[in-house]
Amino acid sequence: MSSPSSVTVRVPAKVNVQLAVAGPRADGFHALANVFLAVSLYDHVTVTPADSLRITCSGPDADQVPLDASNLAARAALALAGRYGRTADVHLHIDKDIPVAGGMAGGSADGAGALLACDALWGTGASRAELLDICASLGSDVPFGLTGGAALGEGRGEVLTPLETGGTFHWVFAVADGGLSTPAVYGECDRLRAASGTDPGPAQPAASPALLAALRAGDAAALASAVSNDLQPAALSLRPSLASTLAAGTEAGALAALVSGSGPTAAFLVKSPEDGERVAAALAASGTCRAVRGAAGPAEGATVVARRP
Ligand code: C5P
Repeated sequence: MSSPSSVTVRVPAKVNVQLAVAGPRADGFHALANVFLAVSLYDHVTVTPADSLRITCSGPDADQVPLDASNLAARAALALAGRYGRTADVHLHIDKDIPVAGGMAGGSADGAGALLACDALWGTGASRAELLDICASLGSDVPFGLTGGAALGEGRGEVLTPLETGGTFHWVFAVADGGLSTPAVYGECDRLRAASGTDPGPAQPAASPALLAALRAGDAAALASAVSNDLQPAALSLRPSLASTLAAGTEAGALAALVSGSGPTAAFLVKSPEDGERVAAALAASGTCRAVRGAAGPAEGATVVARRP
C-alpha cells in the first residue's frame, strides 16, 4: 500500500469525574486517582509531508496556541520520528475546538492526535503499546487522548485502566477568559494543604467505588453525588471568579458543578441534552464565562477520520 498524502485524526477533550491528588513525589509529580471521561469536543490534527517540521493552527483560540517545538503535536512527531530513525519532515495543522489551557487536556489531545496521524502517514507499524509508551513520555494526560472512552489513570495519570460505562453522560462546559497553568494549580494545591495542615492522604489515592458504580450503571444522578476534584480549591484560589460560574450552573439546575481538571473550565453534568440547553442558556446569560459548549461522553479516542491517497 503506498503512503497517503495526508492524514487527519480527530481527538477528544476530557473531563475528570474524580481527581484525587496525593502529596508531591520526589520527582515533583503527584500520584493521582484520575478518572477520565472523554467528551465530544474535538481537535483535528492533519499531517502532510513537508520540507521541515512546521505547525499551523486554526479555530477561535488559535492565537493562544504555541507554534514552536514546545507544542505537544511537534514533540509527538519528533518522538515517533526519533524512534523510527527518520526526520519529522511534516506540516501539522491543528484545527482547534478544545479550550486552550482550560483543564480539558487540549494540548495533550493534540500530542496524541499528531502521534497517530504521523504513525498512519509514515506506516511505522508501531504497536498500540509503543504508541502509548511514547504518549506517556510526552505528558501525563496524553495516553488518555489516544484511548478515549473512560479510564482510571494512576501513577501521575499515565497508567491507564479502561473503565466500563453503562450509558451516555451529558455535559455543559463554561469556558473562562484566559487559561490556568497546570504546574501553578498543583503548586497552589500543595501550598493550601500545607497552610491549613491538611493531610494529602495515601501515597497512591484510590478510585471511588461509588463513582465507578455510577459510571458502570450510566446513572447521572449517582455520578453527580460522587464527582470530586482535589484541584478545585486551588483553581478557585487562583481564579476566585470561578465560584460565580459554578454557582450560575448549579442555580440553573445542573446535577453537578465542578472545575474540569486544573481548570479554569467549569464542567456541569446535566440530565439530558434538553436540560443542557437550558443550563447553557443560563450560563451564557450570567456573564460569568466567555463561551458555553455542550458535549457528551464517553467519546471515542484518537481516530483517523481522513486519509488522502
Ligand atoms: O505531565 P504534564 O506535562 O502534563 O504535567 C504538567 C505539569 O503538571 C507537571 O510539570 C507538574 O507540575 C504537574 N503535574 C503534577 N502531577 C501530575 C501531573 C502533572 O504535579 N500527576
